[in-house]
Amino acid sequence: MKNYVDISDIDSIETWVQEAISLKKAPLEFQNLGQGKTLCMLFFNSSLRTRLSTQKAAMNLGMNVMVMNIGSEGWQLEFEDGAVMDAGKAEHIKEAAAVVSQYCDVIAIRAFANLVDKSDDAQEKVLNGFKKYATVPIVNMESATAHPLQALADTITITEHRKVQRPKVVLSWAPHPKALPHAVANSFAKMMQRMDVDLSITHPKGYELDADVVNNVPIIYDQEEALQNADFVYTKNWSSYTNYGQVLSKDKNWTITAQKMKLTNDGKFMHCLPVRRNMVVSDDVLDSDQSIVIEQANNRTYAAQLVLKKLIS
Ligand code: CP
Repeated sequence: MKNYVDISDIDSIETWVQEAISLKKAPLEFQNLGQGKTLCMLFFNSSLRTRLSTQKAAMNLGMNVMVMNIGSEGWQLEFEDGAVMDAGKAEHIKEAAAVVSQYCDVIAIRAFANLVDKSDDAQEKVLNGFKKYATVPIVNMESATAHPLQALADTITITEHRKVQRPKVVLSWAPHPKALPHAVANSFAKMMQRMDVDLSITHPKGYELDADVVNNVPIIYDQEEALQNADFVYTKNWSSYTNYGQVLSKDKNWTITAQKMKLTNDGKFMHCLPVRRNMVVSDDVLDSDQSIVIEQANNRTYAAQLVLKKLIS
């Protein structure tokens, strides 16, 4: 594996999950592997879990870590070939990626969707720019369209908690005051299609995800119908993909409540976090034994550790 930018970079999900669970049992087993190697994490957007879990993962492998909030502290980057740089952008991705590559062995990047121009976001200019011009491996810490570290952690969590071989997994949209990207939902939906699970997606009309992500997964517009007998309820807000980046609904009838969780098969509640309490999910669900969001966040470390281990081995 040269880079980890999408879940398509995973050759065998089952093998990866078992390797990650082994790392979780003995996190320091490979603490000498990364000695003398450096991870550089570049953030164009905010983070809590990704930043700390990826740093922790690198430290467990004995790596050095450099972190830069490049979006607020770095030069504004130009991504267009042949651009006449006579406006605000001070540095071209060609130099930036080549220079950073000299300082480290792996570059990890977070660069969200702008949710203004669908085609611009689909091009993944930041991630693909670094991938093209860096001379070291690239890790996607959430890009415009994908969050593969999160999806790997989610898969580890579901594997650990499943009580049946083929659990029923429901990806449910929930209300949120702001327009959010599709990256988490995209990667989760794609990952679940590679797992032995019974996946369905529920959301209000107008919130259909990219058809290339959904493929043949059933979409159920009645949330309560979708939740019947679910083993896992993965909740996430996303803005409209069709009316790109628009908030079409903040209907709190879509909030996940304890009453709705009663429809499930004593199902587990999952969310990538951060989560808006009593908007996306009610306190009584998040604070209940059905919620596994903290363990899910813990698994971010072992997902990242596995990816880094593979890239530096
Ligand atoms: N789930 C997740 O990526 O969290 P952060 O945005 O805090 O990194």
